[in-house]
Amino acid sequence: MARFPEALNEQIGREFAASQQYVAIGVYYDRETLAQLAAHFYRQAVEERNHALMIVQFLLDADYDVRIPGVEAPRTDFADPVAPVALALEQERRVTEQISELAALARNEGDLIGEQFLHWFLQEQREEVASMSQLLAVVRRAAESNLLLAEEYLARTGAGAGEAGLEAMAPPAAGGAL
Ligand SMILES: [Fe+2]
Ligand SMILES: [Fe+2]
Repeated sequence: MARFPEALNEQIGREFAASQQYVAIGVYYDRETLAQLAAHFYRQAVEERNHALMIVQFLLDADYDVRIPGVEAPRTDFADPVAPVALALEQERRVTEQISELAALARNEGDLIGEQFLHWFLQEQREEVASMSQLLAVVRRAAESNLLLAEEYLARTGAGAGEAGLEAMAPPAAGGAL
């Protein structure tokens, strides 16, 4: 029996967990009165939620079972303002591995439509790992002098400026992407 639909269901939970983690990071920066960093992570949280619902839509379209799993509580306490971005980068790297494994599983099981569906997610991960490592470098440097430099960077670049093209090609999300 095909493992792929089940494995894809598990990814729904991981995307929601990523979303919750980004909300928690947004709240942390809000408390630190770093409004741009807060806004950035609140926005990332919405994107992760959209990823979960893109997978839901794919499973619905393919007539597979859909389960919406509960998620573990995110981390909410951080040693310093650099730690949340380091955690976020770690999380994005882990998700990249998970998506790659899912794509390989789809291929092994001859589910080429499933594999093709994941190609967008692979591109998205490439973009997210790249932009999160840039943000980590910026926040690290800013932490040595003034964190408002990181705020300025986000205000100037929107950190995710290269995303517009990718977003236009995004698979449909159940209920519509937010
Ligand atoms: Fe995601
Ligand atoms: Fe992500």
